[in-house]
Amino acid sequence: MSAHGVTVLGVGAAVPERVITNDDLAAFLDTSDEWIIRRTGIRERRIAGPELATSDLAVQAARQALQSAGVDAADLDLILVATSTPDQWMPSTAALVQDALGASRAAALDVNAACAGFAYAVAAGGQFVLTGTYRTVLVIGADLMSRVVDWSDRSTAVLFGDGAGAVVLGASRGPALIHCILGADGSGARLLEIPAGGSRMPASTETVRDRLHAIRMQGREVFRFGVEILVRSLREATAEAGVRLEDLTLIIPHQANIRIIQAAAERLGLPVDRFWANVDSFGNTSAASIPLALAEAVSSGRVRHGDLLAFVGFGAGLTWGVNLVTWGGG
Ligand code: UT7
Repeated sequence: MSAHGVTVLGVGAAVPERVITNDDLAAFLDTSDEWIIRRTGIRERRIAGPELATSDLAVQAARQALQSAGVDAADLDLILVATSTPDQWMPSTAALVQDALGASRAAALDVNAACAGFAYAVAAGGQFVLTGTYRTVLVIGADLMSRVVDWSDRSTAVLFGDGAGAVVLGASRGPALIHCILGADGSGARLLEIPAGGSRMPASTETVRDRLHAIRMQGREVFRFGVEILVRSLREATAEAGVRLEDLTLIIPHQANIRIIQAAAERLGLPVDRFWANVDSFGNTSAASIPLALAEAVSSGRVRHGDLLAFVGFGAGLTWGVNLVTWGGG
């Protein structure tokens, strides 16, 4: 039987305990607390100890989401893990999560759309429910960015952190996930990348020596893209859904830089408090940033039944995606 709609049944998040402040970074990098706060809004980030991998945080976030949804792992039909820092190349992180959760009926698939991964995975998971193929889908965004950062490069090392967040999507009578848009512009692939470790440039002593397994970013270009795509994709998604920008109760953008959020709010003519921001506490956690922010917004009481939310992801690829969700609807 085909479902009429898709709703978010529950949400969860997990971050490692260890806090790294800007002053901690300034102890070994030519940077300062003042520069990092002024240029990014970041005050601290969480960094996982060596005993943790991406799937460990993903499982913690998933358990919380399942509990808040009142769904048993054994009833999941599909697990999607958005990540660009998988535990290992093969098998998928989703398969490891499936086993750890005991979700024995669930199919498992990783989604790599970098910082837009969660928005992509929500849209993809939603489609499986809408077509009636599956009833209950776990969508996780999880990244240990600390494992792919060049800790000697001050222009990227100060930006990133580790975390995971998850939602459970379920079939509903009416639509709560009211609209999604996804996009990509692969001509910008070189702007933000990890050059080595894949089939183009397999790992070698040279790639390790030259730090080619770490993130390289052309910050200014990516910044400009971030502002433009936040503005453009929000306009496009709301217009296609037949709602007004002002109807959005809360926008949960990818947390890359507070200045990107402020610039987009100004261009859209929306008050900046219409955007949830927690980049100060966690930095850029890539695919985890939206569900991490959503979990925080929900637990703080800022999200109420019937609110219209927009999740907006953007990042390497270049990729972007928007999910419009009526909270508690469906
Ligand atoms: O998740 C994917 C999306 N990622 C993003 O959206 C990140 C987008 N980019 C950004 O957020 C910003 O471009 C950065 C925060 C990365 C950089 O800020 P910026 O205002 O664009 O600075 P800049 O790269 O133009 O650098 C300005 C100066 C440079 O020095 P000179 O050449 O003017 O002497 C940098 O060397 O700031 C210097 N700088 C730093 N100084 C102290 C760069 N990083 C640092 C640092 N501490 N950590």
